[in-house]
Amino acid sequence: MHPFQCVLRARRCLRRGPLASVSWLLLRTCRAHSSVPSFACPSPQRQQEDGVWKDFSSRLATGPTFQDFLRSASVPPEQPSSSEVEDPPPYLTVDELLGRQRRVYLETYGCQMNVNDTEIAWSILQKSGYLRTSNLQEADVILLVTCSIREKAEQTIWNRLHQLKSLKSKRLRSRVPLRIGILGCMAERLKEEILNREKMVDILAGPDAYRDLPRLLAVAESGQQAANVLLSLDETYADVMPVQTSPSATSAFVSIMRGCDNMCSYCIVPFTRGRERSRPVASILEEVRKLSEQGLKEVTLLGQNVNSFRDNSEVQFNNAVSTNLSRGFSTNYKAKQGGLRFAHLLDQVSRIDPEMRIRFTSPHPKDFPDEVLQLIRERDNICKQIHLPAQSGSSRVLEAMRRGYSREAYVELIHHIRESIPGVSLSSDFIAGFCGETEEDHLQTVSLLREVQYNIGFLFAYSMRQKTRAYHRLKDDIPEEVKLRRLEELITVFREEATKANKSFVGCTQLVLVEGPSKRSAADLCGRNDGNLKVIFADVEMEDATDSGLRVRAQPGDYVLVKITSASSQTLKGHVLCKTTLKDSTAYC
Ligand code: 5AD
Ligand code: SF4
Repeated sequence: MHPFQCVLRARRCLRRGPLASVSWLLLRTCRAHSSVPSFACPSPQRQQEDGVWKDFSSRLATGPTFQDFLRSASVPPEQPSSSEVEDPPPYLTVDELLGRQRRVYLETYGCQMNVNDTEIAWSILQKSGYLRTSNLQEADVILLVTCSIREKAEQTIWNRLHQLKSLKSKRLRSRVPLRIGILGCMAERLKEEILNREKMVDILAGPDAYRDLPRLLAVAESGQQAANVLLSLDETYADVMPVQTSPSATSAFVSIMRGCDNMCSYCIVPFTRGRERSRPVASILEEVRKLSEQGLKEVTLLGQNVNSFRDNSEVQFNNAVSTNLSRGFSTNYKAKQGGLRFAHLLDQVSRIDPEMRIRFTSPHPKDFPDEVLQLIRERDNICKQIHLPAQSGSSRVLEAMRRGYSREAYVELIHHIRESIPGVSLSSDFIAGFCGETEEDHLQTVSLLREVQYNIGFLFAYSMRQKTRAYHRLKDDIPEEVKLRRLEELITVFREEATKANKSFVGCTQLVLVEGPSKRSAADLCGRNDGNLKVIFADVEMEDATDSGLRVRAQPGDYVLVKITSASSQTLKGHVLCKTTLKDSTAYC
């Protein structure tokens, strides 16, 4: 028998037509578990579990028929039931879908999208009756939210899995068996290869399958491996309020869109996270309002291409207005039309709470029409900080990367942004050693770093990823040591330039949102300025300008004015002047 038993599964979806979301679930009989010898003296809990397992396997054997799926597939869309738990598929009971107080340990790797995904996954599991633990030893379920963007990111996860293997094998038999799951991009990219390589992995859930976690875990309870790695055209988890991991946090991430249609030739993201889709504006505004009511002072709008945001969920806005791209920029996809765009969203979000800072990441340089730049300039609480991933300073390499712009168009955009938003802080991503990159191309990237003088930079050595266009069409021909040498050179130049850029703050007064104690010294506090640079200052009494000059100490979530006395490539230092509000104060030199 083929090790995989594919079951056609139909999931009902509130916003979709009945058959739109038919998906495949992979159920795999785990040999390791199926051959576990029976215990001489099983605990009552174990006996109960064995009973559940037998019951489950006999139901699985008699299993749902194709008719079952047709039946559930044709169920008309419904309102959510008052119960928090979804209807079980025919081979599980409602009880089996419940977490039964199992403790879940979640570990996040990779970007901010993954931090947000972790909160979404947890929100779904919490509603199903799971408990959260931050103690690995206490966990009944360990879930790794993974990243695939570079080989190194995946290697870290394989290493972690090896460590977890021993945790699983040493597990006391008196406890419920430990279940391990791989969530996110790596599950999506490698699919069953993970289950084959690491037999101790029980579940796989791709970035669009987190709603399915309770069911996947219920299947895993019986010793089966289970996977859902389907990508969706419209899953945005719009109705799932992420659970903030740190209740004392001053800021939160709000996912506004998922996926990516850009197909840059080096990037795996379109394959791991699927097509671009935006969350309805109304649900984003509702989430931001809730965060404001909870007292949060900063929201970062998140997405693989945040500024390509396009909410097509409201038909009246789907007129044929064509999209304004930044001058000199093009797309790899057919022009899209209509919908509510990023400028509209940014406008609405920033009106919710004038004391709440708004940031967004990660944008694509092609989607910066003037209305977005104007809004950033005009609105006090939209941070004057733009991430503008260049990737390379060579037009030839940019073409091979299929970025849709030349060096000249990029530099023109930088000038335009600096004219439109005086004092704007700029950051960028760069890749060293892309296919065919010559020494001359590399020097052009060095010169772009010098020319723009970014405040913040993220620099990487190229890592070839299967499935991408570069993998199929180009040669990964730059030796590893050359990639690393070029990367080192880029880092050195970036640091020199960032130090110069940041030194221009010395003597200026910056509005800082306090985050908490500095990691280096308990006598210092740490916060961020509008440009997202870290600012360190001594934790001393200061005047509270919001409360008739009372003397107070700064608390997380306070806005304070800090006079900058020194700067490095990554941090500003200074002394605190007073507590203030965002509305009432601006940074000055
Ligand atoms: N190799 C190295 N860096 C990459 N990035 C994306 N794909 C790769 C890759 N294959 C970088 C880009 C992107 C950032 C998130 O990661 O710079 O902007
Ligand atoms: Fe990693 Fe990209 Fe996936 Fe984020 S979206 S986890 S950076 S591969």
